[in-house]
Amino acid sequence: MRVVVVMVLWVAMMMLLSFCYVVSSEPVQDKQALLEFLSKTPHENRLQWNSSVSACSWVGVQCDSNNSYVYSLRLPGVGLVGEIPPNTLSRLSQLRVLSLRSNRLSGQIPQDFSQLKLIRGLYLQNNAFSGDLPGSLAGLPRLARLDLSRNSLSGGIPFSLNNLTRLTGLFLENNNFSGPLPNLHIQSLKEFNVSNNNLNGSIPEALSKSFSADSFRGNLDLCGDPLPPCNNSFFPSPIPSPSAIIPPVSPIKKKTHKKLNNPAIIAISVGCGLILLLLLLILFLCLRRRKSRRPAKPTKPVIPRTAGAGGAVGEAGTSSSKDEIGAGSAEAERNKLVFLDAGIYSFDLEDLLRASAEVLGKGSVGTSYKAVLEEGTTVVVKRLKDVVVSKREFEVQMEGLGKVKHENIVPLRAFYYSKDEKLLVYDFMPAGSLSALLHGSRGSGRTPLDWDNRMKIALSAARGLAHLHVASKVVHGNIKASNILLRTDLEACISDFGLNPLFGTSTPPNRVAGYRAPEVVETRKATFKSDVYSFGVLLLELLTGKAPNQASLGEDGIDLPRWVQSVVREEWTAEVFDVELMRFQNIEEEMVQLLQIAMACVSTVPDQRPGIQEVVRMIEDMNRAETDDGLRQSSDDPSKGSDGQTPPQGSRTPVSALTP
Ligand SMILES: *[C@@H]1O[C@H](CO)[C@@H](O)[C@H](O)[C@H]1NC(C)=O
Ligand SMILES: *[C@@H]1O[C@H](CO)[C@@H](O)[C@H](O)[C@H]1NC(C)=O
Ligand SMILES: *[C@@H]1O[C@H](CO)[C@@H](O)[C@H](O)[C@H]1NC(C)=O
Ligand SMILES: *[C@@H]1O[C@H](CO)[C@@H](O)[C@H](O)[C@H]1NC(C)=O
Ligand SMILES: *[C@@H]1O[C@H](CO)[C@@H](O)[C@H](O)[C@H]1NC(C)=O
Ligand SMILES: *[C@@H]1O[C@H](CO)[C@@H](O)[C@H](O)[C@H]1NC(C)=O
Ligand SMILES: *[C@@H]1O[C@H](CO)[C@@H](O)[C@H](O)[C@H]1NC(C)=O
Repeated sequence: MRVVVVMVLWVAMMMLLSFCYVVSSEPVQDKQALLEFLSKTPHENRLQWNSSVSACSWVGVQCDSNNSYVYSLRLPGVGLVGEIPPNTLSRLSQLRVLSLRSNRLSGQIPQDFSQLKLIRGLYLQNNAFSGDLPGSLAGLPRLARLDLSRNSLSGGIPFSLNNLTRLTGLFLENNNFSGPLPNLHIQSLKEFNVSNNNLNGSIPEALSKSFSADSFRGNLDLCGDPLPPCNNSFFPSPIPSPSAIIPPVSPIKKKTHKKLNNPAIIAISVGCGLILLLLLLILFLCLRRRKSRRPAKPTKPVIPRTAGAGGAVGEAGTSSSKDEIGAGSAEAERNKLVFLDAGIYSFDLEDLLRASAEVLGKGSVGTSYKAVLEEGTTVVVKRLKDVVVSKREFEVQMEGLGKVKHENIVPLRAFYYSKDEKLLVYDFMPAGSLSALLHGSRGSGRTPLDWDNRMKIALSAARGLAHLHVASKVVHGNIKASNILLRTDLEACISDFGLNPLFGTSTPPNRVAGYRAPEVVETRKATFKSDVYSFGVLLLELLTGKAPNQASLGEDGIDLPRWVQSVVREEWTAEVFDVELMRFQNIEEEMVQLLQIAMACVSTVPDQRPGIQEVVRMIEDMNRAETDDGLRQSSDDPSKGSDGQTPPQGSRTPVSALTP
């Protein structure tokens, strides 16, 4: 009872006090700010503010009950024209609501609005504001309604809007915003509209889950649920809402504007495991939907968002209960993207998930994607399938491979291991693969790969492989043309090395049959010598222009080495060589030399194959002879010897006697 009495007395006293205050005061500083604003902003005559009366009685101005500050300013459709003068409205430090809608205001949205720390509603729709949505608006912690629709705002929608944790309505429709939609995961958000802008990319999961197509229509290239599916997305969309985002796990500092607040980190911990589950599901669906394989040309697979994926999102969202936090954090800690070279890349799994991506190729060990991160970095993500080793073994193997560095080897940059998902991150090689260059769109309009470049590729690939064998003691295990990537200067870079130990013996190395050494079929074990065999096949491919697994090699089932041998055995003929090479003059001798090296590599007996260093030396010697000549004309140049002009003999090991 006593407490109640005290409270009643206290309330009464407060009311009395505030009454006195109302009578005796007016917001002097706010009034000045308002007058300054109005004097500097052209407007129609109906807006008359009499400076000799209290600002609290002005049209559109509302003060608090004490009349000590301006609480809201609402000036809709009063004919305000031009830019909002700086340092005027921003001085209304207690302002809760600002409405300037339906005027003809233009220019930038003032940066200094970030000083309106208490503002809850900002209504600037239906004006002519232009420029960017200032990131500083994200520093208004209490903002609940932000309406910027029907202006001419452009640029990207800032990710930092995620800071507005109390936002319930965000209206950006009918502007000129471009770029991707950031992954906004504001739980309080109830109304959202970005219709009629120039946005592109996939709609993030949190938004697509909560809002209908009406919120996204009329954009340049926005895709994914609830709009039609994207054509080329690695992960159709980022992460579901309550799980927020994955914490920065790389050793590299994140960009500052992406720093997470504490609630987000907790949410992350909770949802991390579930996200990964979702990721697997989505990827699984993608995988099932892609059939064709086109290594270097971007495929355009459609990844429809199915009910299955949506359902998984829902589960992930709803099951994030408190009792899972501990487990979630541990999971997050365990399953992170591990970088092998600190400082080269600064992104994390979350960025990777948000990246736009296209399928580069579906290989024997998994599918490769080209992922373009928001910051502009492009990497290749390889999603491994059928990995049987434990996490520890995986880590040891990857850390070993991460140390392999050579100019002709594509470096492994990072890896990720979870129960359901194994990812490898490599540098992206813009010029594509040898396979695409050699076999892609033959015929009209194509520049054939000339002989000098084929030689360059042969030598640089051999050097890369030699480094792998000799310096790193790593068996490649999967040499094939689609794993020979090219720099823009057409130097080769070997990729996908050393992955065989990850897979069980039930899956043989070199799963593309045409490159597989005969003994590997039985032993199921790749060796240095079987790599050399595969490399020999690769050289034959460069020479003949034929894909080793191509059906059209004469008799059924015959592989490239046997086919070349059979042609050569019967009668020496230029028939084996790529027709595209026929237009180049005076290269037969070199072609024959390379053919001899290739044939040595593809000896059936492993011990008869040269070591890869020997192969490098032989190719280098060929090149040297050519360089010494300077010219290609001298087919009877004595410095080249006569061996090269003699057709190889029809033996299984045609070169053993000819090796320089
Ligand atoms: C402003 O208010 C004062 C005091 O009420 C009044 O005398 C004066 O005429 C008003 N001025 C205008 C322009 O309305
Ligand atoms: C009115 O002013 C008094 C004295 O500054 C303050 O204590 C009180 O909280 C104010 N009331 C309101 C409703 O802002
Ligand atoms: C977003 O919030 C974080 C932490 O709460 C803060 O460090 C960051 O500066 C804020 N970003 C903006 C644009 O206000
Ligand atoms: C929107 O932006 C594009 C360039 O990004 C520009 O060409 C176009 O004129 C802009 N449209 C409007 C209405 O401002
Ligand atoms: C979005 O458009 C920009 C510029 O037009 C382009 O650079 C970017 O690649 C596009 N992104 C997607 C995901 O389509
Ligand atoms: C979003 O804005 C557009 C254009 O004004 C409108 O047609 C659409 O109905 C709005 N969407 C929602 C969900 O209100
Ligand atoms: C997807 O591809 C189809 C046809 O290839 C095209 O009409 C459509 O605009 C594309 N959609 C997106 C979102 O890129």
